Amino acid sequence: MGYLDGMSVAVTGAGRGIGRAVAMECARLGAGVVVADYGVAMDGKDPDSDVANAVVEEIKGEGGNAVAVADTVTTMAGGARIVQTAVDTFGRVDGVVCVAGILRERMLFNMSEDEWDPVIETHLKGTFTVFRAAAPIFREQKSGTMIGFTSGAYAGSVAQANYSAAKGGIVSLCRSAAVGMYKYGVTANCIAPVAKSRMSGQVPMELQMGEPEDVAPMVAWLVGPAARNVTGQVYLVNGGHIGVYNQPEEVRGMDKDGRWTMDEISARFEEVGQERMGMIDRLDAMAQAAASGTKPNA
Ligand SMILES: NC(=O)c1ccc[n+]([C@@H]2O[C@H](COP(=O)([O-])OP(=O)(O)OC[C@H]3O[C@@H](n4cnc5c(N)ncnc54)[C@H](O)[C@@H]3O)[C@@H](O)[C@H]2O)c1
Repeated sequence: MGYLDGMSVAVTGAGRGIGRAVAMECARLGAGVVVADYGVAMDGKDPDSDVANAVVEEIKGEGGNAVAVADTVTTMAGGARIVQTAVDTFGRVDGVVCVAGILRERMLFNMSEDEWDPVIETHLKGTFTVFRAAAPIFREQKSGTMIGFTSGAYAGSVAQANYSAAKGGIVSLCRSAAVGMYKYGVTANCIAPVAKSRMSGQVPMELQMGEPEDVAPMVAWLVGPAARNVTGQVYLVNGGHIGVYNQPEEVRGMDKDGRWTMDEISARFEEVGQERMGMIDRLDAMAQAAASGTKPNA
């Protein structure tokens, strides 16, 4: 028996990189898989349906069960078609894994609407369209798994404010899905992967990076029966490392009866103070490395 026997999983961005590895792993474990990929260049342009079809052929070549949807995740119709294809082909849908993504890097002070909108649409809306299509089905069947793909960059990014904002949105979307679908037995989690792919080739520093195939088993495990009570989490997966992020919450405060005046805040600000932002420290290291012509370690 395979861990995902009898189940069906729709994976977006499954034509390349991490999504492809997830689709292949789920198929090897017995799931019927929707390979959803628009087959675009890294900036989201020039769609090509061969990309999704090729992975379906690979899965079938290994004896697995898969169907392609070469549609975009950025429309409600696209999201609905991806989920409906799972139902029509395999008779059910048990997991939706939203991996599709693009990059349009630019410093905030130069970023155009044309660099902002497609990145938010592909990552954040493209997760919503698929979650939204799956949610009523999961609610009805009282089971299902939603998995979003975020990034360490959700905590901040120098030259990818669009990508970082989209990835932060995905974390909040998954957390909201986790609480909103909790009483229906539906789980929602995020993966923050680090893996060699055409996208990670853009990272401007030396990062220890695993392979897309290292990320896939964690995703498959979350989709399957052993993880039914795991929800609202963000898991970092890089090579042989799996980590879990903390939950956002207040760490300290200061109080008085009634409203603070500005002078009072000024006098007592250090009581609440600020939390260290590790990325600011990294910027100093990067500036030093740039000055000496090397790449800093992450
Ligand atoms: N590779 C890493 O180290 C890394 C790090 C952090 C986060 N991520 C995230 O993991 C995910 C996968 O990244 P990857 O490195 O495998 O990237 P990739 O570029 O290799 O694959 C992304 C796939 O998404 C597809 N896609 C893009 N827009 C689409 C759309 N509108 N509709 C359907 N499909 C679309 C592309 O055609 C492509 O096949 C992304 O969400 C990325 O942001 C990756």
